[in-house]
Amino acid sequence: MDRLWTNARLATLTGDGLGPVERGAVAARDGRIAWVGDVADAPDAADIVDCAGRLITPGLIDCHTHLVHGGSRANEWAMRLEGATYEEIARAGGGIVSTMRATREMDEEALVASALPRLDALLAEGVTTIEIKSGYGLTLDDEIKMLRAARALGDARMIRVAATLLAAHVVPPEYKGDADAYVDLVCERIIPAAVGLADAVDGFCEGIGFSPQQIARVFDAAKAAGLPVKLHAEQLSHLAGASLAASYRALSADHLEHIDAADIAAMAEAGTVAVLLPGAYYVMRETHKPPVEALRDAGVPMALATDCNPGTSPTTSLLLMLNMGATLFGLSVTECLRAVTVNAAAALGLQGEIGTIEVGKAADLAIWNTSEPAELVYRLGFNPLHKRIKDGLCT
Ligand code: NIG
Ligand code: FE
Repeated sequence: MDRLWTNARLATLTGDGLGPVERGAVAARDGRIAWVGDVADAPDAADIVDCAGRLITPGLIDCHTHLVHGGSRANEWAMRLEGATYEEIARAGGGIVSTMRATREMDEEALVASALPRLDALLAEGVTTIEIKSGYGLTLDDEIKMLRAARALGDARMIRVAATLLAAHVVPPEYKGDADAYVDLVCERIIPAAVGLADAVDGFCEGIGFSPQQIARVFDAAKAAGLPVKLHAEQLSHLAGASLAASYRALSADHLEHIDAADIAAMAEAGTVAVLLPGAYYVMRETHKPPVEALRDAGVPMALATDCNPGTSPTTSLLLMLNMGATLFGLSVTECLRAVTVNAAAALGLQGEIGTIEVGKAADLAIWNTSEPAELVYRLGFNPLHKRIKDGLCT
């Protein structure tokens, strides 16, 4: 073995709960988990790290972010404090379109530089995998530029990046009044060009985004290109986007404040993960919560993510999302921790690779300055990370 972390309390996240091992050890070889079990049975290793009773979890996974973007929308947020709504601002040419303008003005290098501090904030909390969406370029070249910037962030830091094409985010101003022509561009040119760069295709199914019929066309093109799909669905209203996503066996449907029973049944049947985004719920001062009890009862796996974006969720704390998932949405500590590990991995289609501490998976771990899992969920604005391990290496 290359390295053994011993004398730890493990939350392996295997099985239905936390998969605890009270006096545990984990060994890595060639960047993969090679052994997990009780300290008493631990193998020998070239390097042995005594964890002094600390908790080890899988490295955290932030499965929904818009980390790459230009500009800031602090002023729009201030306008919302004065009473303007998100939709009013969007319809007046602000919102996603204002971030689009700022993003178009930046080259790949500048986008990477501006995203790095946000990425570093997530790394500091033990995040070892991040999903990053495009969606603020809205031309062929600008969407590809965003995907390249996302990939470059994965080279700049020790982190796995899953890149998602979100060209169907909003209709760009140059296609105003002709959304279908923009959908043609997305389907015929942007999706084919993203093959090899994007790991999935996403859309925004909403009155200020795209109709279910338009999203279906995007999903058909994704399918033809061999890319899995996911969807921003039922965030502001109910359009049954989650059911549509499930009918395409989507990896995830995200937001879901306005989801109904039929959508939940469809997601349960398809194994589509419900990605809940309490940061957006909080910043938007939503009052309609995603129906966590119904999702739980139906057996829909739930994930939590930052949705880091300049409009609705300007946060870079996944740990804060754990607290909000519990406090605002009623998730248990176990559900919160599953939501940023095993279920977040499934939301990216990476459940065979990451998300649990299991032999054969990537040796991506977070070692915490506590032995108590609830500590990760309970505190607001305190970071108990001791060490982050990526592919078996201490970072
Ligand atoms: O996930 N809902 C659409 N997309 C983002 C918001 C993007 C923005 O406002 O810039 C979201 O909330
Ligand atoms: Fe989002």
